[in-house]
Amino acid sequence: MHDVLPETAPAWHALEQALRALAEGYGYEEIRLPSLERTELFVRAVGEVTDIVEKEMYTFTDLSGESLSLRPEGTAGCVRACLENGLLHNQTRRLWYLGPMFRHERPQKGRYRQFHQWGAEAYGFTGPDIDAELILLSARLWRVLGIGGVRLQINSLGTAGARARYRAALVEYLSAHHERLDEDSRRRLHVNPLRILDSKNPELRALLDGAPALADHLDPESQEHFAGLRDLLDTAGLAYEVNPRLVRGLDYYEKTVFEWVTDRLGAQGTVCAGGRYDRLIEQLGGRPTPAAGFALGIERLLALLEEGAAPVAAPAPHVYLIAVGETAGRAAPGLAEGLRDELPGLRLCVNCGGGNFKGQFRRADKSGARVALILGEDEVNSGVVGVKYLRDERPQEIVPRGELAPRLRAVVL
Ligand code: HAM
Repeated sequence: MHDVLPETAPAWHALEQALRALAEGYGYEEIRLPSLERTELFVRAVGEVTDIVEKEMYTFTDLSGESLSLRPEGTAGCVRACLENGLLHNQTRRLWYLGPMFRHERPQKGRYRQFHQWGAEAYGFTGPDIDAELILLSARLWRVLGIGGVRLQINSLGTAGARARYRAALVEYLSAHHERLDEDSRRRLHVNPLRILDSKNPELRALLDGAPALADHLDPESQEHFAGLRDLLDTAGLAYEVNPRLVRGLDYYEKTVFEWVTDRLGAQGTVCAGGRYDRLIEQLGGRPTPAAGFALGIERLLALLEEGAAPVAAPAPHVYLIAVGETAGRAAPGLAEGLRDELPGLRLCVNCGGGNFKGQFRRADKSGARVALILGEDEVNSGVVGVKYLRDERPQEIVPRGELAPRLRAVVL
């Protein structure tokens, strides 16, 4: 779990702003969700035999004896909130959220125990047009941020029925080659065999290459949906690869799944991932409502942005107010508040903690401010303020208090 320090916070802020603007550009509305939910929600939504629920959740019993978990992802909570607040009654919804997620994984570069996701979810749309919209929205983000080298992979998992038939065929094939499976795959064989396809073990490659293909077991409805999505992406001119092995680690998906992957982040190459989850809302007690969405990992995106890019700097104050002596020290906060009222947007840093002129001047310079205002007892008594230009070749001035705001506006705003 990482601290975001002042030198990196501006990069987070810039990314958050870009994401907000992007979401607004596609008609998505923000929803803010709690970090804690009932454990049962994740068991039912993400799936009991997934890695996330089996071994990665931060779960505890609260004082009322209820089992709660820090959210490992945002989709389940988003559906819960929509149902609880009646957001899906006879209407479609496009929502986005941003926040910390928690998974007790083995930490490594790009994989953290507290990480942040920005997610988009769309409810009530049956056709592949919404799948395409979500994908095009994410593609636009790479363009807006100038991120290259991310590739789109798509697949269709079919409906639950198709997947059950495929699962049976896969288990039959893999069982016949039981001796070639590694320990992890043997464990998964009967609980979650589709995840074996996702195995990173190179020794399983040949075996998996010969396995029955999910694509051959797809039901006609899913085939049509997938063809529709491909057609929309082709027409929009967006390149993609069909990856028949893309299965995802959460149980709620069906039909479309997709991931944006890169070779630039080492082992944790998935920057953004999602798909369709048409049955989840019903499963969590709502009326049957089609749904699709994705989430991207903010830390992974920032790592991509950092490479080669100039760091985003925190904005320096425009003005630093030096106040020497007791009388000036007492007058300084009032002067500063008055200027903030007169000049919205002004970044003004007041010297706190006293100090002689030399010390305060050094701080003013170090702050990066363009202008230092100088207040001493004489200035207070005469109703004027000294103005010293720290970055311009321009002589120091004495400015009457009433003329100060227009002068500063002209120089720094
Ligand atoms: P996910 O694939 O588990 O999907 O996570 C989405 C993204 O979150 C990943 O592609 C990755 O960028 C980031 N991420 C996941 N785990 C970590 C970690 N430990 N450290 C850093 N980043 C991580 C979901 O969570 C689904 N809820 C996505 C979704 C939304 N599907 C439909 N709607």
